[in-house]
Amino acid sequence: MSQGTTFTKYITELGSKNPQIPASLLISVANACKLIAKQVEQGALAGIIGSAGSGNVQGETQQKLDIISNDILLEACGLDQTLAGMASEEMENIFPANKNGNFLLLFDPLDGSSNIDVNVSIGTIFSILKKQSTGELTEKDFLQAGCDQVASGYVVYGPQTTLVYTTGQGVHMFTLDHETNEFLLIKENITISPDTKEFAINMSNMRHWDQPVKRYVDECLAGTEGARKKDFNMRWIASMVADVHRILCRGGVFMYPWDKRDPSKPGKLRLMYEANPMSFLIEQAGGASVNGKDRIMTLPAEKLHQRVSVVLGSKNEVDLIQKYHQGS
Ligand code: AHG
Ligand code: MN
Ligand code: MN
Repeated sequence: MSQGTTFTKYITELGSKNPQIPASLLISVANACKLIAKQVEQGALAGIIGSAGSGNVQGETQQKLDIISNDILLEACGLDQTLAGMASEEMENIFPANKNGNFLLLFDPLDGSSNIDVNVSIGTIFSILKKQSTGELTEKDFLQAGCDQVASGYVVYGPQTTLVYTTGQGVHMFTLDHETNEFLLIKENITISPDTKEFAINMSNMRHWDQPVKRYVDECLAGTEGARKKDFNMRWIASMVADVHRILCRGGVFMYPWDKRDPSKPGKLRLMYEANPMSFLIEQAGGASVNGKDRIMTLPAEKLHQRVSVVLGSKNEVDLIQKYHQGS
């Protein structure tokens, strides 16, 4: 479709050709994100900066904007008749929507909370599943592998507000036009270059990493004189959405690996509404996404707020890190 096509038109046409696509729900999510973008832009002017003084089920302090974004998504998407229920980083339990709905929506309403107060890019991540059972909605309905997603995406609130999504037919990008309040198509069928010279990891955790991650980063840092025979650049925005957006735009590798700080935790990021939706986008763009040894999209879902180790991005780099984890 031509550049500048609105997201609503784009998705409506797609939905008319393929009724399996959650067209109205994707449009509802986009509309909710327009409202979140407005709040994000107002910041202190709307009195929404700072801690809400509460904690979520992850034991993390909630920011005012975490709660506001969560409420906007619940309200805007709850009206969608195709939606059976929702689950969110900010809610311990599932949130039923419509009895006759056949889709499930999972989201991280505001990713990169530590960046809200300092005016650095943040985002919303979403994953859509099909409700497989016919009975009353339970948490079990949500526990599906990443491979079963019917759509996923994110909206990054940065210098531009940009929506990126996939339904398994490529990855497409739209930017919010403030004049018309519409997301307009800027790029279709995004692909990630298989090679890169850029990696993203929180280096302050280096002493806690496992050997394969240490080996990979050491070799990147050794530059032209080391095993990789090239210099690498490092970026860490501390918003997964912004780091993944950079990788979709110019390649790279992103890691939030398991580390020794709390060995019982498989990682920091959450499988259902962070790792799975991002893995779907990355794979659709020709990249790869693993937890170290295994493909993230095939991991069994055991809990709504399950954590996972994440290595994703340019295919050849992710393959190399996977090899190091597999002991070669
Ligand atoms: P959230 O704000 O939704 O809790 O997620 C933040 C995540 C992720 O976006 C980012 O990559 C990572 O936490 C940053 O972690 P560090 O502060 O440990 O670098
Ligand atoms: Mn997050
Ligand atoms: Mn969040």
